[in-house]
Amino acid sequence: MAKVKKAYFCKSCGFEAPKWLGRCPSCGEWNSFTEEIIARESGAVAASIANVPTSRPQRVAEIKQSDRRRLDLGNAEVNRVLGGGLVPGSLVLLGGEPGIGKSTLSLQLALTDNGLRTLYVSGEESAEQIKLRAERIGVANEECLIYTETLLENIVAQIEEQHPDIVIVDSIQTVYTDLLDSSAGSVSQIRECAATLLKYAKGSGTSIFIIGHITKDGTIAGPKILEHIVDVVLQFEGDGNNIYRILRGIKNRFGATFEIGVFEMLENGLHEVANPSEILLSHYDEPLSGIAVGASVDGIRPYLIEVQALVSNAAYGTPQRNTTGYDPRRMNMLLAVLEKRVGMKMFTKDVFLNFAGGFKVADTGLDLAVAAAVISSYYDRPINEGVCCAGELGLSGEVRPAPRSEQRISEAARLGFRRIVVSGYLPKLSKNIKGIEIVRINNISQLPKALFTED
Ligand code: TYD
Ligand code: MG
Repeated sequence: MAKVKKAYFCKSCGFEAPKWLGRCPSCGEWNSFTEEIIARESGAVAASIANVPTSRPQRVAEIKQSDRRRLDLGNAEVNRVLGGGLVPGSLVLLGGEPGIGKSTLSLQLALTDNGLRTLYVSGEESAEQIKLRAERIGVANEECLIYTETLLENIVAQIEEQHPDIVIVDSIQTVYTDLLDSSAGSVSQIRECAATLLKYAKGSGTSIFIIGHITKDGTIAGPKILEHIVDVVLQFEGDGNNIYRILRGIKNRFGATFEIGVFEMLENGLHEVANPSEILLSHYDEPLSGIAVGASVDGIRPYLIEVQALVSNAAYGTPQRNTTGYDPRRMNMLLAVLEKRVGMKMFTKDVFLNFAGGFKVADTGLDLAVAAAVISSYYDRPINEGVCCAGELGLSGEVRPAPRSEQRISEAARLGFRRIVVSGYLPKLSKNIKGIEIVRINNISQLPKALFTED
């Protein structure tokens, strides 16, 4: 095994020590030391990187245009989240909780008929298990290679031999290099393996997907170090009880960051959902109170989503406040505004809030829809049919325009909504959107009228 010089660094202040310490003498942080390689004499990985031609500084004008070519992965939702396809030579991190469908999604990309030579490296499942899964999904790409291996040096050697367009490493937590003594999945192993893959991707033009499990606190295990090494960070999320999955771009050096892709997990793999509004809106036979529809935008993609609220009398002194898929602090703020500016007695009420389809939303443009659902449940009065909202709420009860309001209005009109409540401060729209009445309100106190009355 190659001889390696190691050192220990404090993760919080960067203090260097020759041996592991429980407490950092510099900043006083406990348990913050990680082992790192600071020099290595030789090794399979280092040798293979040495073969990669090193680049030289060049003028922007001299950079070849072909560098901007993007690969079509054969999956519209994934292409969209990547910003219009995969950039050759990029390193993409796909994170998600165990069991959410990362292996399914990546195997599906490998098996899609996209004309790309793909090497799927699995350290988690045996070849037979992968075959079983592949049969469920259906094999359309004869060029897909399956390789079960966890030693980085072997993986790199195979990539060199096979020259694939895309490599998928499932998962980074199972891969290890011989250069380090620490076990697979440790911070130093993950960092070293990812850095090696990065150098390889940049030098050879092969795109690499690395899959990472997310820890309970929502960070990619191993953890933040990976996020700034890679070009693109995608997060696969969803509610385990629900069939819908969302692929969210958290970082993207080559496109819009907050783009989302929506999938359904069915018996034979993940299916693309081209029109998310259709699954996020329910149809009821009779009007129900406590249900409102908000026009939202994620990335550049507008969709309509249903929000449900239940406001009931609190049995105990401190009322319960519960949300699913929504920031509870934001809800408390909205309830305080309703209390102060509309005069609703929220302090005696329990409030429960729910977004459809297990979606997690953080769009402030949904404030008005949340307020509408709460108002409707509070007064036990259904909102008129075909009414939706898009606006942000300020602390003084003022209604502010939601970002990309025009797109939200267009989407609502496209889906056949009759009326949309927006901010009165919204500048005049650049185009005339037909078929939908646009009701402008300046203050939250005007909202009930816009929701419950005709004309
Ligand atoms: P998996 O891709 O193994 O998750 P991860 O790699 O993120 O840990 O997903 C496993 C889940 O997906 C499992 O609960 C079964 C389900 N599944 C389907 O519902 N349909 C399918 O076609 C496949 C392959 C899996
Ligand atoms: Mg997996």
